[in-house]
Amino acid sequence: LDSLDAAEQFQAAAKREGSQIGVLVDLDVGFFRTGIADPDTAIALCEAITKQSQLRFRGLMCFPGNLLPDSDDSVWRHYADTLGEVLHRLKASGIPVELVSGGSTPTALQSHRNPFLNEIRPGTYAYNDWNEVRLGVATLDDCAARILTTVVSVPSPRKFVVDAGSKTLSSDRNCVDPDSGFGYVVEYPESKISRLSEEHGEITLPDSHLSPPPRVGDRVWIIPNHICVCVNLQNEFHLWDGKATRTLPVDARGLLV
Ligand SMILES: Cc1ncc(COP(=O)(O)O)c(C=O)c1O
Repeated sequence: LDSLDAAEQFQAAAKREGSQIGVLVDLDVGFFRTGIADPDTAIALCEAITKQSQLRFRGLMCFPGNLLPDSDDSVWRHYADTLGEVLHRLKASGIPVELVSGGSTPTALQSHRNPFLNEIRPGTYAYNDWNEVRLGVATLDDCAARILTTVVSVPSPRKFVVDAGSKTLSSDRNCVDPDSGFGYVVEYPESKISRLSEEHGEITLPDSHLSPPPRVGDRVWIIPNHICVCVNLQNEFHLWDGKATRTLPVDARGLLV
């Protein structure tokens, strides 16, 4: 959490339930989403949390979504310095810190560049996706999840439509090249998923594509821009171990955590 308001609401809820909640204070290290950027404000909140009877201050967290593999050294330094300063001052105030949690998929393999972390939270890496490929931290072979789609219409030699729209692929744009479409079509790497409606994905082929487009009923694989959202949109997964498939439900379907 990143405010006294949130801390007090957690405190009240825990009191009502007769329980205790462990909390981390969220620091903003440059992503400008949530979190506290100013060390004085962060320390004041940590101290306030230690005084709440139903809250247990466990440490610090941050999400370095602004950090990419080729980010400048100064951005990495800011990530480490922000945590370092708050940790140093908490130590001086005698407030113990158990967890310092950061990380993301793009920064995972360079986590050692922030010596204060004792936990990282990469999530996308489990399957990887077209975003991570475009960021250069995964290859197409590292992308373990794909969507199998069926061609439902071929309105012109340069365009076909599949049965996967925003309800299947999500509307997330590519984080490296937002206008490049909604994923990667494995059989047509030069194509672009140019427009989505709920149940339809329109795929365009460049003029340089000389062979005929697919036929209605053909299957094409899509690696989505952002696999995390995409998994959340599916009822089940078909796991392929090289010999057979096994179907598993997506337990987190539609959930927020
Ligand atoms: C707070 C937080 N932690 C961890 C992650 C996982 O990061 P990644 O998707 O780069 O693996 C996210 C992703 O959005 C996040 O918001």
